[in-house]
Amino acid sequence: MAKETLTITDNRTGKQYEIPVEEGGVIRAAALRDIKTSADDFGLMSYDPSFTNTASCRSRITYIDGDKGILRYRGYPIEELAEKSNYLEVAYLIVKGELPDRGHYAAWEGNIKTHTMIHENIKKFMEGFRYDAHPMGMLVSTIGALSTFYPEAAQITDLESRRLQTRRLIGKVPTLAAFAYRHTRGLPYVYPQNDLSYTGNFLSMLFRMAERDYQPNPVLEHALDVLFILHADHEQNCSANAMRSVGSSQVDPYSAVAAATAALYGPLHGGANEAVIRMLVEIGSPKNVPGFIKDVKAGKRRLMGFGHRVYKNYDPRAKIVKKIAYDVFKVTGLNPLIDISLELEKIALEDDYFVSRKLYPNVDFYTGVTYQAMGFPMTMFPVLFAIPRTSGWMAQWAEMVRDPEQKIARPRQVYVGEQTRRWTPLEQRPEPTMREDAVSDEI
Ligand code: CMC
Repeated sequence: MAKETLTITDNRTGKQYEIPVEEGGVIRAAALRDIKTSADDFGLMSYDPSFTNTASCRSRITYIDGDKGILRYRGYPIEELAEKSNYLEVAYLIVKGELPDRGHYAAWEGNIKTHTMIHENIKKFMEGFRYDAHPMGMLVSTIGALSTFYPEAAQITDLESRRLQTRRLIGKVPTLAAFAYRHTRGLPYVYPQNDLSYTGNFLSMLFRMAERDYQPNPVLEHALDVLFILHADHEQNCSANAMRSVGSSQVDPYSAVAAATAALYGPLHGGANEAVIRMLVEIGSPKNVPGFIKDVKAGKRRLMGFGHRVYKNYDPRAKIVKKIAYDVFKVTGLNPLIDISLELEKIALEDDYFVSRKLYPNVDFYTGVTYQAMGFPMTMFPVLFAIPRTSGWMAQWAEMVRDPEQKIARPRQVYVGEQTRRWTPLEQRPEPTMREDAVSDEI
């Protein structure tokens, strides 16, 4: 029978090493340290900028097969969850590992709703932002500020404390997000209304004006709920990695979620849906699509909402969002930008540049047009991503805290800078003091 090992010959020394192959295709990078040229040699290490081929953890939360376009939470296909479940149930599944029974679901829903209020001082803190502050910037800051209200959250090894902070965060993030939106509009904040669903309450906190009895549109409420399910977790993406990496310092989870939210803010991650709309507006009409694609192929532009580090096939979430978009348009009227999206998708999926690089629409390609039709300004798009992703971040964080193999995250580097140099006093340094390229290194 074939052995589950890898034999490495070090041609520098002629020595052979046998390294175990685990889980059907994983080697431990630390095993390379035994490969040395002498006793005082550091040993080999692997170089993997941006972790394109390095697993940082073992996880039981989300499974992705990027080649086949498969996404499952705790073993359940995303398509089935999007069709049959609701966001709060999926959040329970992601955080706890199992679907809840009726009793546990009722308790979970009650627990989350108990924590939708925020301290009045957080409201005052929010008021301190400029009128045109980006709501994602406000969200990052206010989530971070929550840690000062719950100092006991620093007890990260205490299971009950972890559970409480998880409920608080899932409960409070929609309130912070809605307050940030109302702030940008100069509107009074709307307090949570707990007889509404999780997404219904969020819509109420966003859009309620002077109605005595605000009732969210059920189609939009359901569409937002499905979008929340699709965004709940996505294994070791940039923000989950930030959550784990910052959390590995044993900081409280509010600070780690603030860091994860900041990671999500970037245009290559959660900010991509905003970038998609800006791109569609700039293209302006389906007739301008071929010219835009030409610029993309010439390397002058990126087709935002296309491509993914893991999916080398159609992102399964994008398929669901495309359908949801049309449900929303039935209520709101068609977003005219959809015609440009469809033309971009059609041309790109037939073009060898995109086909050969396996670039397909990702989740962000159709979310922007959907959110825009629902009345959300572009600056709210990444915020709408952060709300449901909070359950994923908390599950990733709890898994990391409980994992005995995890330590403080601390990658190695390959040092390519100067070796030891002698310091000279300022007046004795020759002009110019630094090389041009050294100056640009620092910028
Ligand atoms: N438009 C044009 N070319 C692209 C694109 C794109 N959107 N994405 C990748 N490529 C090209 C890239 O230029 C490179 O070509 P070459 O081999 O000739 O140099 C090749 O495809 C591989 O790209 P990469 O940048 O090495 O791939 P990556 O895995 O580092 O990047 C990505 C993944 C998502 C950052 C990238 O595809 C991208 O920038 N997409 C647009 C932004 C976007 O939609 N982001 C949302 C991601 S999904 C939501 C989330 O998880 O947050």
